Amino acid sequence: MGSETKVLSLEEVSQHDKKTDCWLIISGKVYDITPFLDDHPGGDEVLILATKKDATEDFEDVGHSQNARDMLKDYYVGDIDVNTLPTKGGSYKPPSSSGSGSKQASEGSSNTALMVVLPILILALAYALYYYANKA
Ligand code: HEM
Repeated sequence: MGSETKVLSLEEVSQHDKKTDCWLIISGKVYDITPFLDDHPGGDEVLILATKKDATEDFEDVGHSQNARDMLKDYYVGDIDVNTLPTKGGSYKPPSSSGSGSKQASEGSSNTALMVVLPILILALAYALYYYANKA
């Protein structure tokens, strides 16, 4: 009996992106949900839209019931090779806009800085006044 887990690449899974052949990647696992397309309460369109990528977020965003989660195992075909998935978050670097032309950004951050520094200044001033008033 061979019960080895199949490890599939994103490329392989992406070939199954039709109503007649639909695979989804959810939480590191690959599911062939083709037989379920017509029965899905959310319709088949959303399922087709969730192919060719990690659909975990799409699946979780809906807040699927435990029943829906339990149904997944009936359609399990293997695991996704995570190295073939685009890295999330880590790959995005916000533009480091140092220098000219970032007036709006610097205005925003100086406002935040002011909100932190101003109360400290006021407290320091109040303390100084209190100190001198007591001394005199
Ligand atoms: C990532 C892709 C998916 C999306 C975007 C999605 C979307 C949705 C939406 C929008 C609903 C709500 C329908 C309504 O309010 O009328 C729904 C319900 C449901 N979906 Fe999905 N779905 C996805 C994948 C799946 C999968 C793979 C299964 C099971 C194999 C599943 C099972 C269910 C079930 C059973 C319901 C009924 C409500 C519940 O029990 O949570 N869905 N889905």
